[in-house]
Amino acid sequence: MHAQHSIIHAALATACIAVAVNNVRAEPSGLNWESCPDIPSGSANLACAYLQVPLDYHNASAGYATLLVAKANATSGDPKGTIFMNPGGPGASGLTSVAIDGPKLMNHSGGFYDIVSWDPRGVGPYTYPGDVFCLSDEESATFWNGSIEVTGINWLGNFTNQTDLNNFYNQGPIIDRQYRALAEKCLQTSNGTNLRYIGTASTVRDLVSLADALQGPGTPITYWGLSYGTLVGAWFMDMFPDRVGHVILDGVVDATFVGTQQPYKTWRDQISSAEDVYNAFANACGLSGPGGCRLAPFEGATGADVVNYISSAIEVVHDHPLAGNVSMATLRSSLFDGLYQAQLWSSFANDTLASEVESILNSNMTQAARRSLAKRETFSLSYTETAVVCADSVDADPTLTIEDIFDEIVNVTRTVSHTFGASWPIPWFGCQYWPVRAVERAKGPFNKTLANRVLVIGNAYDNATPFLEAQNTADVLGSQAALVKQNGFGHTSIYQYSTCTINIIEAYLANGTLPTDQLTVCEIDDFVELFPGVKSVSVTVDNAGIKE
Ligand SMILES: *[C@@H]1O[C@H](CO)[C@@H](O)[C@H](O)[C@H]1NC(C)=O
Ligand SMILES: *[C@@H]1O[C@H](CO)[C@@H](O)[C@H](O)[C@H]1NC(C)=O
Ligand SMILES: *[C@@H]1O[C@H](CO)[C@@H](O)[C@H](O)[C@H]1NC(C)=O
Ligand SMILES: *[C@@H]1O[C@H](CO)[C@@H](O)[C@H](O)[C@H]1NC(C)=O
Ligand SMILES: *[C@@H]1O[C@H](CO)[C@@H](O)[C@H](O)[C@H]1NC(C)=O
Ligand SMILES: *[C@@H]1O[C@H](CO)[C@@H](O)[C@H](O)[C@H]1NC(C)=O
Ligand SMILES: *[C@@H]1O[C@H](CO)[C@@H](O)[C@H](O)[C@H]1NC(C)=O
Ligand SMILES: *[C@@H]1O[C@H](CO)[C@@H](O)[C@H](O)[C@H]1NC(C)=O
Ligand SMILES: *[C@@H]1O[C@H](CO)[C@@H](O)[C@H](O)[C@H]1NC(C)=O
Ligand SMILES: *[C@@H]1O[C@H](CO)[C@@H](O)[C@H](O)[C@H]1NC(C)=O
Ligand SMILES: *[C@@H]1O[C@H](CO)[C@@H](O)[C@H](O)[C@H]1NC(C)=O
Ligand SMILES: *[C@@H]1O[C@H](CO)[C@@H](O)[C@H](O)[C@H]1NC(C)=O
Repeated sequence: MHAQHSIIHAALATACIAVAVNNVRAEPSGLNWESCPDIPSGSANLACAYLQVPLDYHNASAGYATLLVAKANATSGDPKGTIFMNPGGPGASGLTSVAIDGPKLMNHSGGFYDIVSWDPRGVGPYTYPGDVFCLSDEESATFWNGSIEVTGINWLGNFTNQTDLNNFYNQGPIIDRQYRALAEKCLQTSNGTNLRYIGTASTVRDLVSLADALQGPGTPITYWGLSYGTLVGAWFMDMFPDRVGHVILDGVVDATFVGTQQPYKTWRDQISSAEDVYNAFANACGLSGPGGCRLAPFEGATGADVVNYISSAIEVVHDHPLAGNVSMATLRSSLFDGLYQAQLWSSFANDTLASEVESILNSNMTQAARRSLAKRETFSLSYTETAVVCADSVDADPTLTIEDIFDEIVNVTRTVSHTFGASWPIPWFGCQYWPVRAVERAKGPFNKTLANRVLVIGNAYDNATPFLEAQNTADVLGSQAALVKQNGFGHTSIYQYSTCTINIIEAYLANGTLPTDQLTVCEIDDFVELFPGVKSVSVTVDNAGIKE
């Protein structure tokens, strides 16, 4: 599981300029909007611009960074302000995100705001510093050859098979050696000198520079952070509490964890709702039956039957790597990624997951068993996600060993998520080796006195950022935050329609009004179906059981 497996997503904010109080409005310098260098199909309504900012905000002699900025116009007449959006990941493109998630964010904010995002440092070919490269394609194939970095980890159930455990722990010295070598490579490439200027604190300062240019220095910034974008939001609130206009944190990463824990320790928390979301997916598929969900093996199938069917394919690839040309790592990561957007569950189940499962189960295993493991299809040469996560993280603990990290993975697989616990690679597992930390990091305690109250939103069942993290974040902010628990599934609130959540967002953006209760529970609208004939509101996370 790599980039697509990220926490993580986007961030959005709306500058309600009319509400701007106590702020000097200098003349904004503006941006030169032109056509975008690369517009994903079906999204014509975008304009782009470039903004130059200091590479190091504390050292003018370091030179400049350049950000590619993208904007979607408000759809409901004259814009009431601008919503800034960070694409999350970390490592996702703001341009792509405005194009793809923009319409949803536009809809969920009533269409009254321009939506602006940018390719943050470390992302893409248009922003500088852009993508982080450490190994050429040729080097990479040899560098990781045969290691879990390309094959993933082979395990079943609670990871108790001794052969699997031996194979895994035998990788320890190899991973240790190669991660050290990778750190050297990353420093030696032309990108090495820029690594410490990539990270969330720089991105927060870039957000402020962008708002200064668009709205004028000192103006309140309204920001909607989704997923990793919530970390940008939390650090923004910590670094610029006076600039907080309206801030929405949606699908929340707990900034306190990031600021205080060794990064590999956050994995346990991050996937703590993943099994619940998987159960809901399986239960909903079963309720729909084979007529609505290709993964339901028979009429009247329960969630447990759906899980058993998927598990039978996992068992086959465990014993016959690449059966049907699908690897264990590919199958598990497609399943995890598919859980993010509940609105797409039905097409994901039919078009992606069922095809992989059928391909495995129908494969000629004799042939498959003879093949050696090949390169993981999702392998990506960009180390941006690692670069950001690790640059932000606490200093490496010199006593920590790769065995400690492996022990934690086995423990998490047994105690938190048997389906996803032993995913590899995960950027958080490599920070011990990453050669730099960012020139600036926010450490919290993330309870500064803010210019305005903020809105924190978490889904009851979010596979990538569990509700617990939204709860912790709201608790730290106390009366400065209103917390909304959206009673739905998947990652962030925007992929399931809740009039209740949307009304809260719209009122907040319009005039700062927030629920007076510290916690509001919002239901998903009754019309929302997960699979044909299966309403989201009637699906539970009851344990669907496991077979492997
Ligand atoms: C966006 O709005 C501005 C100002 O109203 C207008 O000049 C511009 O043409 C619009 N851009 C697009 C892509 O519709
Ligand atoms: C500032 O940046 C310059 C150019 O990269 C570098 O030589 C110098 O060491 C930096 N100063 C500090 C205090 O980091
Ligand atoms: C948002 O989408 C919903 C559901 O499709 C629709 O009813 C509503 O009119 C849309 N709102 C806006 C502002 O586009
Ligand atoms: C890394 O190098 C590539 C290619 O020269 C460049 O496009 C990218 O912006 C660089 N990234 C960083 C972080 O310096
Ligand atoms: C990977 O290792 C195998 C077995 O040692 C070897 O045959 C193959 O050439 C290697 N591939 C690369 C790209 O280095
Ligand atoms: C994993 O361990 C837990 C707790 O011991 C147990 O409830 C569960 O059935 C086990 N699962 C498998 C697949 O062995
Ligand atoms: C453990 O897994 C290996 C394959 O990795 C398999 O050959 C063996 O039969 C398994 N052992 C048990 C007890 O299931
Ligand atoms: C999913 O597949 C089933 C057949 O198992 C079919 O009846 C249904 O229409 C498909 N749904 C979608 C959204 O493709
Ligand atoms: C399966 O693969 C074996 C070995 O390559 C081959 O002899 C056999 O004919 C194949 N069977 C089928 C049904 O394709
Ligand atoms: C697993 O981790 C938990 C929490 O860190 C710890 O309490 C427990 O002792 C660990 N179990 C094992 C077998 O290491
Ligand atoms: C912020 O949190 C810290 C650490 O928990 C605490 O000591 C401090 O009193 C808090 N400050 C405010 C204003 O609540
Ligand atoms: C705030 O805006 C919302 C949505 O436009 C509206 O329903 C509400 O009455 C407004 N509240 C105040 C106090 O103006």
